[in-house]
Amino acid sequence: MQHLITTADFTNEEILKLFDDAKLFLDLSSNSLLLGKLIVTLFFENSTRTRSSFEIAAKRLGAAVVNLEVQTSSTKKGESVEDTVANLNAMKPDAIIIRHRDCGLPASLIEHVDCPILNAGDGTNAHPTQALLDLFTIFEHFDGEVNNKKLAMIGDIKTSRVASSNLELLPRFGVEPILVAPEHFMPKTDFKKVQFLKETIDDVDIIMSLRTQLERHEKIYYKSLEEFGKDYCVTSQSLGDRDILLLHPGPVNRNIDISDEMLKDKRCKVLEQVRNGVAVRMAILKKLILKQ
Ligand code: NCD
Repeated sequence: MQHLITTADFTNEEILKLFDDAKLFLDLSSNSLLLGKLIVTLFFENSTRTRSSFEIAAKRLGAAVVNLEVQTSSTKKGESVEDTVANLNAMKPDAIIIRHRDCGLPASLIEHVDCPILNAGDGTNAHPTQALLDLFTIFEHFDGEVNNKKLAMIGDIKTSRVASSNLELLPRFGVEPILVAPEHFMPKTDFKKVQFLKETIDDVDIIMSLRTQLERHEKIYYKSLEEFGKDYCVTSQSLGDRDILLLHPGPVNRNIDISDEMLKDKRCKVLEQVRNGVAVRMAILKKLILKQ
């Protein structure tokens, strides 16, 4: 049984095959590949894109979806997530998608189920489907020629699970990350690091902006997000007329992560990432449920 807990669960070859499938699904039209299948989603953390993207992907493939309302579920009566999932598993779903604030929780569920577990984000640890859709967007943009491309990752890299999954995945395909952040948002890694975007803007082909994960911080690092934005917001001035692909996983804090003007700029592919996300998740659900 194959699960998707981190991007390391798929080989490069499997990912390229996944992308071939995602391309076929890009018009997001409906088919019946998963007709008769049932997928359960459990979101213990807030979500707009990931939850709706998974649900739409499942429905476009003809599967039925049950969203467990975790606010009113038995975990609120003291049941452990492991027991909740074991009970759901007894109802024979074909896949379980879970988001939870505890790092490692999705991995710990594997021994309690007979169907694939898909990690939709566990704390600061991993968000594999986001990294896969980001890489797919980069592949699409550069027509598959991604080797040796340089990507500036900017913002709260240390606490972002999108960052950690991308830092595992991108280098496997030859995309070199350059980390742009103040010291307290910088993870301990060997990747190249700079403090400000202007130090590396002339070297990069791609910028990935990230949201400041205030809800995961134990300390207050800035008086306000506006203060942080003064140094780290991606603006038309910072890009100039450079040919750079601008990405962000969402939700975007406008004029803190990316300026209003840049969000409208055609170099900014945030909504393309969202559309690609449905196609990539369709390909992932097909792979894990049909084992093909
Ligand atoms: C991210 C997440 O939840 O990890 N959003 C997403 O899934 N697209 C990023 C974030 O919350 O900043």
